Amino acid sequence: MIAGVPPPRIGDNMVEQPNQPDKTGKKATIFAVTSGKGGVGKTSLSVNLACEFSRRGYRTIIVDTDLGLANAHILAGIKPAKTLSDYIEGKAELAQIIENGPCKVKFISGGSGVKEMANLDDNGRARICVAIEDLSPFCDVILLDTGAGVSRGVTDFVSMADHTILVTTSNFAAIADAYGIVKVVVQDGYNKPIHCVVNRVRSPEEAEQVFLKLKGCTERFLGFDLNWLGLLPEDSSVEGAVLKRAPFSEVFPGSVAARYLAKLVSGLERFVAGSKSTPQVAKS
Ligand SMILES: Nc1ncnc2c1ncn2[C@@H]1O[C@H](COP(=O)(O)OP(=O)(O)O)[C@@H](O)[C@H]1O
Ligand SMILES: [Mg+2]
Repeated sequence: MIAGVPPPRIGDNMVEQPNQPDKTGKKATIFAVTSGKGGVGKTSLSVNLACEFSRRGYRTIIVDTDLGLANAHILAGIKPAKTLSDYIEGKAELAQIIENGPCKVKFISGGSGVKEMANLDDNGRARICVAIEDLSPFCDVILLDTGAGVSRGVTDFVSMADHTILVTTSNFAAIADAYGIVKVVVQDGYNKPIHCVVNRVRSPEEAEQVFLKLKGCTERFLGFDLNWLGLLPEDSSVEGAVLKRAPFSEVFPGSVAARYLAKLVSGLERFVAGSKSTPQVAKS
């Protein structure tokens, strides 16, 4: 940092009105996108959910919390100059690691190929959680793209979120591992909503069967009720967009995947403060 120059503030790089946190004190809704098994489509979903929220007018930021193995920047077509690794090492302020992503989405990378980040201790992860909370007054939606599995490196971010989006495919191991992460967080005291997305399916019936299987297990063995969010079909546009280093909903807006993505965001929108869709009424 240059002597005499004030450090950048978070809002400098955030929204149309720099430095202006929401006047009503409204905070962002934090969604963690997670899974038990890797490679089920979390990152692709996170980037595209963020783009769709942004297109609908919500100030949106993705934080890639797959620490040390972060790759959301690749799918978003960004080359981050600085990452959470610089922030943790004290080499950058929070405002300096916020990048501009596609569709006006803001973006923070978790650093890739950084062993220290993958092995971050409780204190380091707690600092990242605090940083994420600090972003909250400056945006409407914060999407955390987590790693896979049941380590604290994943569950800490799930625990801090307001809602979890659990991604699975119809692969048996993916379903079993999805159950595994629900079990770990619920046994740890997690009591916020978990919304299921079944990815890469060939029919709505296939997605429904996977969801009912998973829901049946969590209800029976954990006493936890999973919510249905929706599905994403197997679609070559998703892979095609990865090769183009761009969100599929941006480069292939007419694709079947983009159509289903829009339905997922319609299902989530009601949880975002200030949304125009009907707020969910809590049952007494
Ligand atoms: N609906 C889909 N149709 C086709 N390919 C998909 C779909 N969803 C994800 N993929 C592919 O699966 C691979 C893994 O996706 P990714 O988002 O990186 O998974 P994760 O973050 O869970 O490890 C990517 O190559 C992606 O293109
Ligand atoms: Mg990923």
